[in-house]
Amino acid sequence: MSATTHAETKRNAASLAHYPSVAAVIDKLRPTLPVYALFPPAFRSAVQTFIDGFPGETMFAVKANHADPVLDHLHGAGIKHFDVASLAEVRLIRERFADAKLSFMAPVRIRGAAGEAFRTFAVRNFALDSEDELAVILSETGANNDRSIAAQLTLYVRLHVPADGALLELSSKFGASITQAAELLRLIAASGAKPGLTFHVGSQCLHPRSYQAALKRCGDAIKQSGVTLAALDVGGGFPGYYLNVTVPPLEEYFAAIKDGVAALKLPEGCAIYCEPGRALAADGLSVITQVLLRRDHTIYINDGIYGSLNEYALQNWPVRYPLRVYAESNGRIIEKKSRIASFKAFGPTCDTLDVLHYLIELPDNVAAGDWIEFQQLGAYSCALRTGFNGFYPDTFVEIRA
Ligand SMILES: Cc1ncc(COP(=O)(O)O)c(C=O)c1O
Repeated sequence: MSATTHAETKRNAASLAHYPSVAAVIDKLRPTLPVYALFPPAFRSAVQTFIDGFPGETMFAVKANHADPVLDHLHGAGIKHFDVASLAEVRLIRERFADAKLSFMAPVRIRGAAGEAFRTFAVRNFALDSEDELAVILSETGANNDRSIAAQLTLYVRLHVPADGALLELSSKFGASITQAAELLRLIAASGAKPGLTFHVGSQCLHPRSYQAALKRCGDAIKQSGVTLAALDVGGGFPGYYLNVTVPPLEEYFAAIKDGVAALKLPEGCAIYCEPGRALAADGLSVITQVLLRRDHTIYINDGIYGSLNEYALQNWPVRYPLRVYAESNGRIIEKKSRIASFKAFGPTCDTLDVLHYLIELPDNVAAGDWIEFQQLGAYSCALRTGFNGFYPDTFVEIRA
């Protein structure tokens, strides 16, 4: 394999090297750098679950995984609308899928981003949680001087909702109170733009009731504002089905959302959206790493928290990812199975902080040179890799029968 490079390679899912199994990948490549192995059926099945069950249109939150082949699989499976949160994501999706619908759902943007997204990339949907950002959007798009431009915009007020149902809260950074949201909805309607509401219950949300509680707050904001809502986006937060966390089936989340939306008695034609990242991406990708050194029950591996294993640095993160260990035996790659023991795992950089914050469970006979497959790491793994210390994993393959 070639040396690491910080520049991401452009690629298509269709042109990736493919192998029948992870063992076959290891057998062929004997990889010394991390490899991302994609499982296309997992992306298809995740998308289909949302298409079948969610009572509205599903976007993909690009921040969870912006790798080209992942986007290709999700798009091929039926995702035609993307939640983008930076101009770079806007450009990435517009250039890849010319007809895709884009919603720019970061409530605070780089100066000029809303204007360029509107003018150059045909973005018409924006989120905000302050009067200042509303003024920026109206001014950069020209909607403040031209009602015909305003009429093209759907502006979503991001509502503050309690963070108690999710493992990763996303409430302390963004979100207007009910009273502020009502005022923003009135200002949006007065500007001539279409008023929308959105919220985020937090990532890896464990309780469907969190969506119902958030929807009830939407009802309060709508009532206070007196406006006719054009669109409601219930955000992301849908869980991954990892080890060590108990989560109800997605159908229960969809049912809670259906009930919560029905109770709002929204006007006919009010569009309903969701924007999952984790739930669409998690199951479709494994990270194949190699053990560099073993010292008693401490191992050094070739990926870490500055690379694809960033979620191992989250605080109070009970999630565990399924692991498998592969080794070479008589020229063949076999899966190692033995008594399980706990290991401390350091990443490849020289930084002491580059250590997984949680012990990992591996066969007791794991050894230097073996490979560890971290499964279900399609969300917030390669998306968060840095080039720190020269380590930038960027090899993708597919597992196809
Ligand atoms: C605005 C917004 N939408 C959607 C998502 C995706 O969330 P999740 O991956 O939990 O579904 C995020 C995550 O940070 C977000 O900030």
